[in-house]
Amino acid sequence: MAAVSFKHVRKVFGETVSIPSLDLDIRDGEFVCLLGPSGCGKTTTLRMLAGLEQPTSGAIHIGGTEVQELPPAKRDIAMVFQSYALYPHLTVAQNIVYPLKKRGVPKQEWPAMLNNIAQLLQLEPLLERKPKQLSGGQQQRVALGRALIRKPKVFLLDEPLSNLDAKLRAHMRAELIELHQRMGTTTVYVTHDQLEAMTMSTRIAVMNGGVLQQFGTPDEIYYRPANQFVAGFIGTPAMSLIDGDLQRDDTGFSLHAGGVTVRLPHAALRADASGEVCVGIRPEDIVLGRGTLSARIKVVEPTGHESIVLMDCGGASLCTRIASDVPLAAELRAGQSVPFEITLARLHIFSRQSGQRMNRDDTNVTSIKRTRDAA
Ligand SMILES: Nc1ncnc2c1ncn2[C@@H]1O[C@H](COP(=O)(O)OP(=O)(O)OP(=O)(O)O)[C@@H](O)[C@H]1O
Ligand SMILES: [Mg+2]
Repeated sequence: MAAVSFKHVRKVFGETVSIPSLDLDIRDGEFVCLLGPSGCGKTTTLRMLAGLEQPTSGAIHIGGTEVQELPPAKRDIAMVFQSYALYPHLTVAQNIVYPLKKRGVPKQEWPAMLNNIAQLLQLEPLLERKPKQLSGGQQQRVALGRALIRKPKVFLLDEPLSNLDAKLRAHMRAELIELHQRMGTTTVYVTHDQLEAMTMSTRIAVMNGGVLQQFGTPDEIYYRPANQFVAGFIGTPAMSLIDGDLQRDDTGFSLHAGGVTVRLPHAALRADASGEVCVGIRPEDIVLGRGTLSARIKVVEPTGHESIVLMDCGGASLCTRIASDVPLAAELRAGQSVPFEITLARLHIFSRQSGQRMNRDDTNVTSIKRTRDAA
């Protein structure tokens, strides 16, 4: 087990600056997801940690040892690639035990270790097949098995579940969480799936355009997005983001947005907050059927246990959700006006110029969750 750190790590491919300068400290035993849209530099970051790419500058440490000059084999890591890279001429069983052979683990220990992994990944009926006789999802499970069979200092996983069907994906997600709890091996997991990141991580590193946007627990990322990008990227349906204007006076702040004016106390926002802002409202922080505000319903999307409701409020688009067992849910129609209220303490305010969060965030995230659950 080992901590991992990136210090001022920069990666340039020819003319392209992939990672301008990355600083990231991952604690021993953490499960960290690198999360972000396609092309944001997740794989490049992981490949530099694995030793498959050389950083242009900066330092990478694993367990306190500087590793950026070391070849992959000297780093004691196990990696599962986006493409599984199995040996085509070896059987599934031979592929899985390959790292044991390479590391000189005595042969009599292999069968028990292989059985464990085959059982975990439901590979028992496939052990004698060659990779080309497997589906994409099965190949991915073999690649996972090959990484999991030994106990490296750090696991590196690049979208390892992307080729599995929804059911197996959910199953494997739970298995990986359990496995991590049992083994406690530091894990760096690349994904663009926020559900995966939110459910598996101890902390999430959200990246965009090669730049780390926020590094925090799933709760911190969800309840306190550091900037407008993180706010819009995390959460399904996405947070509504609307332009507004903020003025500070002696008794608090006046916020004008979507044809509505609301008052916020001084304690809610940073003292220098004012001017053009972007207001973020999560769907669950808009309550339909009560309050003094009004919006026109554009679309109602039933999903089973709840409906997603898109509305227009003074030209601003708002998205909210309503549980199907609330009587009002059955009455909502496009074109109708509906009263609503917003939980003002949950508004997210960002500077439109810098995109940075302007909330004061004095209370801790756990108490924010508790008050939400009680509401
Ligand atoms: N070998 C390379 N040569 C040139 N550019 C590269 C190379 N590898 C990556 N890049 C560029 O670096 C950027 C980051 O790529 P990377 O593969 O790390 O993204 P990613 O976040 O893993 O995306 P995805 O989710 O699509 O896998 C992209 O703009 C990509 O085009
Ligand atoms: Mg990638």
